[in-house]
Amino acid sequence: MNPLIAPSILAADFANLQREVEMLNSSSADYIHVDIMDGVFVPNISFGIPVTAAIHEHATKPLDVHLMIVNPDNYLESFKEAGAAVITVHYEACNHLHRTIQKIKSLGCKAGVALNPHTPVELLVDIIAEIDMVCLMSVNPGFGGQSFIENTYSKIRRLKEIILKAGSNTKIEIDGGVNEKNATALVEAGADVLVAGSFVFSSKDPKATIQNLKGNK
Ligand code: DX5
Ligand code: ZN
Repeated sequence: MNPLIAPSILAADFANLQREVEMLNSSSADYIHVDIMDGVFVPNISFGIPVTAAIHEHATKPLDVHLMIVNPDNYLESFKEAGAAVITVHYEACNHLHRTIQKIKSLGCKAGVALNPHTPVELLVDIIAEIDMVCLMSVNPGFGGQSFIENTYSKIRRLKEIILKAGSNTKIEIDGGVNEKNATALVEAGADVLVAGSFVFSSKDPKATIQNLKGNK
């Protein structure tokens, strides 16, 4: 199976966002990954709702919105209105994850749950069937361009077992430090969606890079 590819717009040239979005539109990317950072849940601030809406105005690919924010429940409607197709919240930021997931779905979005590198996948056993996508953070969230944490492979394999046991069709997304060297192994371990920021945008030919990641099994 070829993985779905979600280039992260965090690594794009923000002064030329429309051009960058149009480049992704004409690429074989499956989603545009949109990283929202609030300076509280993570030690960095990216951008918010108006910029997401501006991306959406030009995008022909669905927006995969990754909320690295506290109190995500307060902003679900706003991100839906800004054009999110998938809304991913962090397990670590939700006191009532089941309720949050139901809310995302009631808005007509796919519901994603992200896990920080230290958070065990086993914590999702009782809710896996409700989740459309689990985003395994393969770096500590907050910054692009960090190096991949190798323990992610074990988490993918364990999560895949949980998903199969539950008979669910939850997708596994990997976010952070993805490149041509680890893409094949990630897909072999069970990854369905690969997020890639700096690897795509710092390459000479981002469209070819996206195509190569996709072809990487
Ligand atoms: C990290 C973000 C990632 C990041 C990935 O906090 O969630 O989506 O943009 O960037 P790279 O691919 O450069 O690690
Ligand atoms: Zn992300």
